[in-house]
Amino acid sequence: MALFVTNHPLIQHKLTIMRKKETGTLEFRELLKEVGMLMGYEVCRDFPLKDVEIETPMQKMVAHELDGKKVAVVPILRAGLGMVDGLLTLIPAAKVGHIGMYRDEKTHEPVFYYYKMPEGKDRMVLLTDPMLATGGSACDAIKRLKEDGYTNIRIVCLVASPQGVERVQREHPDVDIYTAALDDGLNKDCYILPGLGDAGDRIFGTL
Ligand code: PRP
Ligand code: URA
Repeated sequence: MALFVTNHPLIQHKLTIMRKKETGTLEFRELLKEVGMLMGYEVCRDFPLKDVEIETPMQKMVAHELDGKKVAVVPILRAGLGMVDGLLTLIPAAKVGHIGMYRDEKTHEPVFYYYKMPEGKDRMVLLTDPMLATGGSACDAIKRLKEDGYTNIRIVCLVASPQGVERVQREHPDVDIYTAALDDGLNKDCYILPGLGDAGDRIFGTL
């Protein structure tokens, strides 16, 4: 498996604004959508192409088009929703699944509450969640997807902790992780440091 930490300057700039505590909900949500799209560009980099014969206004040529890669964008609710529109801008034919889970405040363990996927187990699943903290939510979501028959899964996040990455690599070595930042670690409440706070609350304006 691989960890891709993108160093694209536009992503880094937008992430810096998102990290600032004074950045409000409206701007945070808009930036997450934009970063979702830019991350999608990185995630699709190795999608296979096939040759097709076409005719330009000038002459015939052999050009390239995507080789039928079917994608499901699957947010972990709630915060993962913030990256969906950006990814769909790039991959408009993708279908969207949803996995509902929240972290218990005391145990920090994920609590599962919803699962709905589109047809086609052969789809590449782009599992979105801005925060990979302990990795518990991502690992449980991946386990559920694998039990359902999905074999091709990538995590698309914004900020990851070393602990979260290590756990995903240990439990699901076949799953690649794409992130905009690998932060320092977790605090006692399992929030990422320096992080950006509670992503769901910052997207939706809740407390
Ligand atoms: C946050 C975040 C991840 C999870 C990460 O969700 O969006 O899903 O925590 O933590 P973990 O890696 O330690 O599992 P939260 O439970 O706050 O739910 P929300 O998105 O509904 O706010
Ligand atoms: N969930 C968040 O939203 N932020 C963190 O730092 C950790 C988990």
